[in-house]
Amino acid sequence: ADVKIAVIVGSLRKDSFNRKIAKALMSLAPAGLVLEEVDIGQLAMYNQDFDDESIPLAEWTAFRETMKQYTGVLFVTPEYNRSVPAVLKNALDVGSRPYGQSIWNGKPAAIVSVSPGGLSAFGANHHLRQSLVFLNVPAMQQPEAYIGNVANLFDAAGEFVNAETKEFLYKFMLAFAEWVNKVERQ
Ligand code: FNR
Repeated sequence: ADVKIAVIVGSLRKDSFNRKIAKALMSLAPAGLVLEEVDIGQLAMYNQDFDDESIPLAEWTAFRETMKQYTGVLFVTPEYNRSVPAVLKNALDVGSRPYGQSIWNGKPAAIVSVSPGGLSAFGANHHLRQSLVFLNVPAMQQPEAYIGNVANLFDAAGEFVNAETKEFLYKFMLAFAEWVNKVERQ
């Protein structure tokens, strides 16, 4: 049976490099893994006052219900000021509450960090891992994916300049499919 994976992109930008990489990863997923992007841009900033069951914000409830349909999560994120963008942290926070009802618990995940710079959003990649430890999200350890100098990876037509990039992303998705299977068998 198909395994559904939510793709969460940490950038809301129209021409986002992260979304381009996410789309490439989605197209390279092995058979049996169905990837769909789940939008996080509409989520209001998390406020614990609204944990009260009688007044949940509609978009938070919709996000939590949507996420429950997915077995795993693929995070593709830029780095903002050496950490994860607020929009991504907000989605983690919204999904983690009300207390005891976290939608993240136990979902296998993988992280890809993307930057036009040379440090490949390493800081965001690892800050995200730190939150996932607490959220009990088993995040794939290897291979790691740090995509730096991302603007140079695409040609004018939006295709990858080097076959190696595609090969790397393909192997990453193969490993992620194996990781999801491994976690789900436990
Ligand atoms: C950035 N950028 C950035 N890049 C980086 O490698 N490390 C960083 O700490 C930061 N900090 C940062 C803060 C803020 C507020 C912005 C808006 C940007 C640059 C960032 O990597 C660049 O804008 C990417 O293009 C963002 O990813 P998308 O939108 O192309 O997917």
